Amino acid sequence: MYKSLLRPLFFLFQPEKAHKVTMGLLRFFMVIPFVDRLCLAFSLGRKSALRFDKKGIRFPNRIGLAAGFDKDGKYFRELKNLGFGSIEVGTVTPRPQPGNPAPRLFRLPADEALINRMGFNNEGAESLRARLEKRPDSLVIGGNIGKNKDTPNESAVDDYLTCFRELKDVVDYFAINVSSPNTPGLRALQEKEPLQELIRAVREEARHQEADQPILLKIAPDLTQEQLDDIIEIVNNTGLDGVIATNTTIARNGLKTSSDTIEQIGAGGLSGKPLKHRATEVIAYLREHLGDEALIIGAGGIASAADAMEKINAGADIVQVYTGFIYEGPALIRAVNRMMLKESL
Ligand SMILES: Cc1cc2nc3c(=O)[nH]c(=O)nc-3n(C[C@H](O)[C@H](O)[C@H](O)COP(=O)(O)O)c2cc1C
Repeated sequence: MYKSLLRPLFFLFQPEKAHKVTMGLLRFFMVIPFVDRLCLAFSLGRKSALRFDKKGIRFPNRIGLAAGFDKDGKYFRELKNLGFGSIEVGTVTPRPQPGNPAPRLFRLPADEALINRMGFNNEGAESLRARLEKRPDSLVIGGNIGKNKDTPNESAVDDYLTCFRELKDVVDYFAINVSSPNTPGLRALQEKEPLQELIRAVREEARHQEADQPILLKIAPDLTQEQLDDIIEIVNNTGLDGVIATNTTIARNGLKTSSDTIEQIGAGGLSGKPLKHRATEVIAYLREHLGDEALIIGAGGIASAADAMEKINAGADIVQVYTGFIYEGPALIRAVNRMMLKESL
């Protein structure tokens, strides 16, 4: 029903408007008696055989919603009822910020992809924390943290620490985001020295605050082999708990969408199908070099149960979706859960 009826309707709207309309509708339907329970049952998301424990987190199932979809933690209840086992809120910054001017989100239907340059539009860490105080326990919530656009990289650590302190009592894991292409200079924090300093500072803060949630690093798919090796070394040296691979890409190769259209859209991160192969490659490399202990969350171009299995087989413990969810709808969650049940994962 989503693909044949709802998606064509939603796609009549500008992408960002469509997001608001869909979330409004979802909220509306979820207050109808029993709809929440019916949706949850349909999604298979709370079947006990799907549970997965790692690093002290009890994931109800292996499919999560990637960061950026529910940046401000407004819809986690409704999204939980669609069957997600985990939701990564954020990226949140210490202070609220509007993000880049619109239009900043574009569909590439021929490629089943999106390009976005949202630029961390969010209502700030304090407001996110307030919402998460009413969070359910039956859902894993990750806090994806970043820095404000006007904070220079030399003071970036302070922004991450502010977000960490604000969220420490309301999230189940942290994701340090140094990989979004839409905050100028952010990805420079993926370089060895600044990254080491940032992770050490966050780990130290965690010790100081007696916060024992796993801390993960979210990385870009555009890292060179050398950078990826540096990341592996840093994860091992700093005792980081794992990695989320991957964020959106700045690459534009192999697209079906015309180059004129791509040029008109301009800068931004590409997500969805064109990212699938590279993301899987990064996951496989990370698993090979980080060993079994690390928590690896895989994202990038998952649009079917088979895509999710590909990421799991490459070494992901948990998978996340964003673009595939926009194109495929809630049936994707059920399909993934069903496949995992079948595979007895
Ligand atoms: C519109 C949009 C906004 C996003 N915002 C964030 C964000 O704020 N922080 C982040 O770490 N990733 C963000 N992402 C990246 C996703 O979390 C995910 O890593 C990426 O899109 C790859 O997964 P996908 O191919 O399933 O979309 C965003 C993606 C999209 C499409």
